[in-house]
Amino acid sequence: MSEPNGTPAEWQGGTVWLTGLPSAGKTTIATGLAGRLRAEGHRVQVLDGDEVRAALSAELGFSKEDRDVNVRRIGYVAALLAEHGVTVLVPVIAPYAQSRAAVRELHAARGARYAEVHVATPLEVCADRDVKSLYARQAAGELSGLTGADDPYEVPVDPDLRVHTQDQTVDESVRQVRALLTARGLS
Ligand SMILES: Nc1ncnc2c1ncn2[C@@H]1O[C@H](COP(=O)(O)OP(=O)(O)OP(=O)(O)O)[C@@H](O)[C@H]1O
Ligand SMILES: [Mg+2]
Repeated sequence: MSEPNGTPAEWQGGTVWLTGLPSAGKTTIATGLAGRLRAEGHRVQVLDGDEVRAALSAELGFSKEDRDVNVRRIGYVAALLAEHGVTVLVPVIAPYAQSRAAVRELHAARGARYAEVHVATPLEVCADRDVKSLYARQAAGELSGLTGADDPYEVPVDPDLRVHTQDQTVDESVRQVRALLTARGLS
């Protein structure tokens, strides 16, 4: 069995988009999963929100339109990699359902595997974790447009998986996403 681009079946890749609020656990899960997959011999690329935004979308802000363009750009890069047998993990907030749907459709059009994981940590827990002190700064009036606080987050209606990190260890969450990849033939 071969992939459409001729990549041997054992190199099958795909994209896993981890969407959720700031401090939900997207980066933590993606990093943990990437390490595990690499140890198993998979080719893995993590496209993390802050880093990729600086590289691909430095001119963009955080309006609905700019967030949409940023998500679509990342989705395009992810699809290219996925087509070439890479397992692409994308821990990026992606607050708008329409942008997420566009990325899913792009993958379908290119014949690349795709799964959406909602890292569904409740806002109160995220605000309490506040890894980057964003919630505190928003509450203090030092920044605005923070997803979940004073900017929209459209909760995924039909994700491939919902992860409730507030009830799990990091390892349990990583294993849950790993099981999805196996079930969907992404790794
Ligand atoms: N089960 C779990 N899964 C993931 N993270 C967890 C879990 N339990 C606790 N945490 C903690 O929650 C925090 C999540 O921070 P992380 O940077 O991964 O969030 P994020 O979703 O990437 O946020 P941002 O959108 O701001 O980048 C970490 O401190 C992590 O240790
Ligand atoms: Mg992150």
